[in-house]
Formats: sequence, structure tokens, C-alpha cells
Amino acid sequence: MRLLLLAAALCALSTGTALAAGDADAGKTVFKKCAACHSVGEGATNRVGPVLNGLFGRTAGTTDYGYSSAMTDAGAGGLVWTPDTFARFIPKPRAFVPGTKMTFAGLADQAAVDDLVAYLLTFSPDYVSAETDGPAP
Ligand code: HEC
Repeated sequence: MRLLLLAAALCALSTGTALAAGDADAGKTVFKKCAACHSVGEGATNRVGPVLNGLFGRTAGTTDYGYSSAMTDAGAGGLVWTPDTFARFIPKPRAFVPGTKMTFAGLADQAAVDDLVAYLLTFSPDYVSAETDGPAP
């Protein structure tokens, strides 16, 4: 019972956080910054970087793509992509995963990151958030 109450309190706390407020349409525009190296959607293929379909919920560095050892090590160390870990990674990829071969400098604008999360969530239909920042049930 106490646990349930705690869960309810946590839900209340995270409802309406910035992460939940992203706009997928705007995120599609933000994704143009990524599209030189990444693709999503039907028929997406690895380019300079891995396909980002099904990103949320998967362990870093685990698709059929030639990752750097920095990225596979991060995954082996427990890094799972969620809206939260992604939002910490994307502003400074090379600070969050030192040694990554993703040379993208970073996306600092928090609103743009939120929009990007909303957009990428549309390509992660199986993702069920352990927090409340996932898609509505
Ligand atoms: C210049 C090319 C380039 C750009 C631009 C780029 N990436 Fe990457 N990205 C990569 C590469 C290369 C990797 C593989 C990194 C590694 O193995 O260390 C990667 C890896 C990733 C991963 C980890 C995927 C996994 O399966 O673990 C995520 C998430 C990601 N990129 C998101 C983005 C997003 C979102 C953008 C746009 C804001 C972006 N990237 C822009 C090249 C790029």
C-alpha cells in the first residue's frame, strides 16, 4: 500500500515535466540535425550511425551496427536509452559516452531535446516507461 502511494506520488511529480511536453512534429524538424547520420521509420538503414527505430528501452550499442567499444562498453555497463538518459546524452554526446564515435557536437536547447524525444518515441512503439514520461497507455 505504501509502495502504491509512493508510486502515485512519483507519477504526480513527473506529470507535466519538460520531458513529457515535447512536440513530435517539431521533433521531426529537429531530427534533420541527425538525419545526415541516422534514419528512422520504415525501411530505415544504418548510415554513419545506427538506425534509431526502437531506441527507447534498448541497451546502448546493441543493434546490428559497428559501434565503438565506448558505446558497447556503456551498454555493458548498464546504459539503457530512455527519454531521461537520452536527454542527458544528446547535449554533449562525447561527454556522456567518452570515446563515442558519434561526432555530433550536441544539442543544447532543452525544448528541442524534448521535441526530439517525442518524435523518437513515435518510432519506439514497444517502449513502456518505468517512469511516466513514455507514451500514454
Ligand atoms: C555526424 C554523424 C552523426 C550525427 C549528426 C548524429 N549522430 Fe548519433 N551516432 C552517430 C554514430 C557514428 C553513432 C555510433 C556511436 C558509437 O558507436 O560510439 C551514433 C549513436 C547514436 C546513438 C546511440 C544508439 C544506440 O543504438 O546505442 C543515439 C541515441 C544517437 N546517436 C542519437 C542521435 C541523435 C538524436 C542525433 C541528432 C540530434 C544524432 N545522433 C546525430 C553519428 C551521428
